[in-house]
Amino acid sequence: MPNVVIVGTQWGDEGKGKIVDILTEQADIVVRFQGGPNAGHTVVIGDTKTILHQIPSGILNSGKQCIIGNGVVLDLATLLDEIRQIRQQGYFTDPSALKISENASLIMPWHKKIDIARERKKGKNKIGTTGRGIGPAYEDKVARNAIRFGDIFNDTLLRDKIETTLEEKNFYLTSYLGEEPLNADAVLNALTALRDELRSYPVNASLYLAEAVGQGKNILFEGAQGTMLDVDHGTYPFVTSSNTTAAQAAIGSGVGPRQLHTIVGITKAYTTRVGEGPFPTELTDATGDFMRTQGGEFGSTTGRPRRCGWFDLVVVKHAVRLNSISCIALTKLDVLSGLDSINICTGYRCGETILHEFPNDLSVLEKCVPVYETVPGWKEDLSNVSSYGDLPQAAKSYVARLEALTGVPMCMVSVGVKRSQNIMRSNPFDAC
Ligand code: GDP
Ligand code: IMO
Ligand code: MG
Repeated sequence: MPNVVIVGTQWGDEGKGKIVDILTEQADIVVRFQGGPNAGHTVVIGDTKTILHQIPSGILNSGKQCIIGNGVVLDLATLLDEIRQIRQQGYFTDPSALKISENASLIMPWHKKIDIARERKKGKNKIGTTGRGIGPAYEDKVARNAIRFGDIFNDTLLRDKIETTLEEKNFYLTSYLGEEPLNADAVLNALTALRDELRSYPVNASLYLAEAVGQGKNILFEGAQGTMLDVDHGTYPFVTSSNTTAAQAAIGSGVGPRQLHTIVGITKAYTTRVGEGPFPTELTDATGDFMRTQGGEFGSTTGRPRRCGWFDLVVVKHAVRLNSISCIALTKLDVLSGLDSINICTGYRCGETILHEFPNDLSVLEKCVPVYETVPGWKEDLSNVSSYGDLPQAAKSYVARLEALTGVPMCMVSVGVKRSQNIMRSNPFDAC
């Protein structure tokens, strides 16, 4: 059976958490490989809604091994809050169900302070980050200054790293950002106070996963954010600070790239974005409001209203190429019920030319307008439809049109928040 990678194909919040939860049934291990508490992955089981930020969404299925990989930036205090919350909901009763790579970089208090203060200083040029310290934490990882998860169990090393780092960070915080300095002892004490609760989690994730591969176990890799937020391939600088695309599943967990077999792109039936940055098909009219209300489009992490717009084929084709997507799980098709017609953006018109590929130079986009193909909508409620054949003809035609335009089969069609509200057309674990 193949290992399966889940990635977002738009600007995040495509419904990755829901699909990961469903596919976990067939997996032995679920691995998060990038991002951090900027992610908000929603899973609804029965009447209980859970939002996972750092823990893989597979944790709600008992008997599965969840791993936080080296590619994740980890906020330990909020991780423990998250653990408490899911335990209160009756999940994660077996502490061995979660392991954390010793090499995962930590988000430290200065990272959050810097993230928030920088955004304030940037004013109208801000990125609209989640304020979770993601960018500054990845900067320190690449600068070889990170405190890693394994370091917290070594007193001398930890004190030394915190004191040395704070010399520089306090200078930057006070002199450049006008913030209060941080006290090394206070930071150290706060971190060591968490240690006892974390002792069972460290693992050499790469070795653990290699062994699992050898035993023929099924691994599900859970991406966070979306392709257009990838630091190299997204709408830079309006992106997150990690690679969100499928190849990162190997780097961010320590498996070799030949272990990534099937890549499932999670794609919303329309488009949303949180934060600043270009969004060619954005609707600031009543249709955009309709999508926001019907789709409950408010950020899972920050509660911010999400910007909404039509399906953008240029974006999704960009994602299909970058991720070598095997099949697409199309989510939130139910949200479009009630529209007379639906637009699909097939290109961007810039003067005399029509672009079919997303430009690297974002200033080009300012001079472009989307080119739309209009297809009929449908009025029927889809939330109780459990087989593809029972979808209204117009909904089936929309899915078929997206398949034809993207050149990728739609292996799953999701029609509501619940586990049961999902049409499995072909199973990614049987290869799409
Ligand atoms: P993620 O970050 O990709 O995991 O997505 P989020 O959880 O941030 O946002 C997706 C939202 O859509 C959540 O509130 C989900 O419960 C919800 N959702 C997922 N799939 C569907 C669907 O097919 N229909 C509807 N109506 N909601 C869905
Ligand atoms: P999931 O995994 C949607 C966006 C932020 C901001 C930009 C940079 O739930 O899909 P950051 O805090 O990462 O430095 O912010 O990226 N962003 C997301 N948008 N879903 C997410 O995660 C996001 N994670 C970050 O809004 O525009
Ligand atoms: Mg989300």
